[in-house]
Amino acid sequence: MAEFTLPANSKVKIGDTYKAPEGAKRVKKFKIYRWDPEKGGNPRLDTYEIDLDDCAPMVLDALIKIKNEVDTTLTFRRSCREGICGSCAMNIDGTNTLACLKPIEEVEGDVAIYPLPHMPVIKDLVPDLTVPYTQLASVQPWLQADTPPSPTEERRQSPEERAKLDGLWECVLCFCCQTSCPSYWWNGDRYLGPAVLLQAYRWIADSRDEYTGERLDALEDPFRLYRCHTIMNCTKTCPKGLNPAKAIAEIKKLMVARQ
Ligand code: SF4
Ligand code: SF4
Ligand code: FES
Repeated sequence: MAEFTLPANSKVKIGDTYKAPEGAKRVKKFKIYRWDPEKGGNPRLDTYEIDLDDCAPMVLDALIKIKNEVDTTLTFRRSCREGICGSCAMNIDGTNTLACLKPIEEVEGDVAIYPLPHMPVIKDLVPDLTVPYTQLASVQPWLQADTPPSPTEERRQSPEERAKLDGLWECVLCFCCQTSCPSYWWNGDRYLGPAVLLQAYRWIADSRDEYTGERLDALEDPFRLYRCHTIMNCTKTCPKGLNPAKAIAEIKKLMVARQ
């Protein structure tokens, strides 16, 4: 089994080790990034030995067990435990994913857990998502139409129109894709990133929305949309199996079509 080791030039230091209980037979090591703004200093990697015979199957289960039984100071976000809320996104075994959907047994050797990359860290595994949420608000992710709705029925769509939203509405805004995108790492202040652009396209593609032109105008910018270089990290990492790169390509096609 591979032992996880830090690169020689890492600023992260080896931290504390919490041993498995006596008699544990199926021990797995979780190496978890720790940083506390109140203490400052360099981050460290603490090691928690967990008996898999006494732990539920997902990485989030192990984190909850650690917090409840071993070290209450460990800090992470979670809510639904079933891949719906998007809050338990983190980097596990080198890939951004949802901890509640990641089986421990899929990780060979030690389980290395870091916060989502290239985001400021608030504490331990909690990234500061202020910038992507501000960017999300900028694309006005709600239905906009000047035609008043009928007083007696909902705004209707044909099955074909509704089908255009498949692959978009399922996004749980976990930002795994956003934080795996090299263009977003380098230009995150101006490039909207794959999660936000997928959300933008979700409303552009909605037959009930009457602001398509305005939405495209707002994206017509060398940075907001066109920093996507089709590297595809976003699509590879999405834990919900969505394809943000395709959504971005669809927006670019619409831009060309209206010229
Ligand atoms: S396809 Fe575009 S959005 Fe996706 S990772 Fe590559 S550059 Fe980023
Ligand atoms: S597209 Fe996938 S990875 Fe990106 S925010 Fe939505 S669910 Fe998360
Ligand atoms: S806890 Fe909600 S998606 Fe993981």
